[in-house]
Order: sequence, then structure tokens, then C-alpha cells
Amino acid sequence: MILTVTLNPCVDKTYLIEDFAVHKLNRPSQALTVAGGKGLNVARVYTRLGGQALATGLLGGYNGHIVQTALAGEGIAHDFVEISKETRLCIKVVDPLRKTETEINELGPTVSATEMARFMAHLERLLTSHSFAMVAFCGSLPLGIEASWVKTILRRAQQAGAKTVLDSSGAALREGIAASPWLVKPNRTELEELWEHPISSVETARCAATALRENYGVEVFLCTLGAEGALWIAEKEAYHVHAPRVNVMSAVASGDSFLAGLLLAIEKGDSVENALRLAAGAGAANAEVLGAGFCEVDIVQKRAEQAQVSRLA
Ligand SMILES: Nc1ncnc2c1ncn2[C@@H]1O[C@H](COP(=O)(O)OP(=O)(O)OP(=O)(O)O)[C@@H](O)[C@H]1O
Ligand SMILES: [Mg+2]
Repeated sequence: MILTVTLNPCVDKTYLIEDFAVHKLNRPSQALTVAGGKGLNVARVYTRLGGQALATGLLGGYNGHIVQTALAGEGIAHDFVEISKETRLCIKVVDPLRKTETEINELGPTVSATEMARFMAHLERLLTSHSFAMVAFCGSLPLGIEASWVKTILRRAQQAGAKTVLDSSGAALREGIAASPWLVKPNRTELEELWEHPISSVETARCAATALRENYGVEVFLCTLGAEGALWIAEKEAYHVHAPRVNVMSAVASGDSFLAGLLLAIEKGDSVENALRLAAGAGAANAEVLGAGFCEVDIVQKRAEQAQVSRLA
């Protein structure tokens, strides 16, 4: 079983609007409201693929209730700490005609020191009452929470014997990586943030990941590069998984889906090559559908079979 930590989840609303434009009335042809947030997406895909995942974090207000109800409706195990302020609303506008994706993400609630202390006590209870194979810290931090908490959370999970995973950006990524998690999953932009230089090719990504992995004492640097696939950089081996070609509907949460597939295969004891195939299958299958992590298991399997893995070292 894995635990995903999402401190700033959201109600995720996706509108499908053909020919979306400013200064005009836009009417969605489809509207989808789901529980959102990176760790929730990971838990969704993990659960869909037959694994056991528990989602935790902070939820508050009406939007918090919407998220809880949605998670229950989907059969995603969850155990959140309630906060006083309203959980945020994130809106995505997908325009299939212009092939654009527009996001409007609220900053979200300000969390108090008392609420964060309650969360840490809650995490402590979860870690002592379950035996999680992996604990993944996913996504951004809400206002009021110092980035150093990410390091504290990861260290606590490490002490409990779990493999730790970090998928974040900005200060949370920089602070969290200092805990030397087992695996860090930056996308191209996040890798650039860490490397402080542009990542213009797969080869540059490989060099950056190799150096950063050593610097931070991370076991696995897993860089996802959108349609260019992903790199698995570890001490003894390096792989490039090529993404299967698909008709892209929305690649939002393809990284979360990729991570879910990868962690599930690793938890089951699969080889790195097979784990990368399942991961690429989940990332691609997610890109083919609207919404974050709503990929179909049979499509994930089909895409996984199409994913090519090459060993680099
Ligand atoms: N257009 C695409 N076609 C096929 N596979 C894709 C495509 N985009 C993404 N993927 C798969 O999903 C993986 C993750 O994608 P990406 O690097 O865009 O993640 P991300 O930016 O972290 O996404 P998010 O944070 O929204 O979940 C890629 O490594 C790839 O395997
Ligand atoms: Mg990502």
C-alpha cells in the first residue's frame, strides 16, 4: 500500500470548449468536476490499476466536502485533516479545435501553524497504524506552510521505513530534495528549476539528472519529458522510455499517471523496464482522455505494450 500526501488539493473543473476565446461568451460542450491535486491523481490511477493507495492531506469548506464526496464516489481511500479555510477551485479549459489548454488555479487556503501541527500528528498516526511501502509527497504547498515541512514529512516517512517519493516544484521541490528521497520526479520545467539552465534535449536532461542525483543523494531521478518519454537515472543503470504516440486530448496529470504506474509496478516487484512501460502506458492513456487520471486500464495495458525502453547505461 502507498500513501500520497497532498497539502493543497482542489476541486478540479474541466471545461471542453471548442474555439475558446476571451471577450466572448464561452459555452462548454462538456463539464467535468472531480477531486483534484497531484497526490489524488496518483491515488486515482494507482487504485484504477488495481493497487491500494491512501490519499491524505488538508481539506476545508464546501470544496473540501466536494473533494471527499468525489473520492468516496470513486472508491479512492482517503483520510484527510480538516482545516478552517476553503479548499481551492482549479479550472481547466480544453479547446480541441485550437489545441490549447488554459488553466485558472486558485492559490488556495492559508493554513495555520495549529492546523499543520494537527496534520503532522495525523501523519504520525497513519505511519504507525499502516505499513506503507511508499510515501509520495505530491504537488504544491498551501499558503502559510513553510517549504521545510516537505523535508520533515519525507524524513518522518523514511524513519517509518517507507520509500519516499517527491513530485513537486519551486521551494517545496528544493527543500524536499534535501531529505534525499528515494525517487524524485521532475518534469522538464522542474528539472530546469533544479539545474538552473535550460533543458533543450534528452541528452541535456540526462546530464542534469545524473549530476543532480549525485548532489542530492537521491536513489532514482525520474525525469518526465512529455511526448519525449522519460529518463530513469539511478546509480547503476539508466533508461529512456519512449512515449507511445497517441491522439492527445489533455496531458494534464500525465506525470501523476506515469508516477502511479511506475510505483505500482515497483511495489509489485517488477523490473525497472516493465515499471517504465506501465508508467509510460499510464501517462499516454491519460493524455488520451479528458480529466486528470481517468485512464482506462485496458488502454493503459495496450499503451504499455507499445512503449519502448532503451538502456542507456
Ligand atoms: N503527448 C504525449 N504522448 C504520449 N505520452 C505522453 C504525452 N505527454 C506525456 N506523456 C507521458 O506522460 C509522462 C509525463 O508527462 P509530463 O512530463 O508532461 O508530466 P508532468 O508535466 O509532470 O505532468 P503533470 O504534472 O500534469 O502530471 C511522459 O513521460 C510520457 O510518458
Ligand atoms: Mg508533474
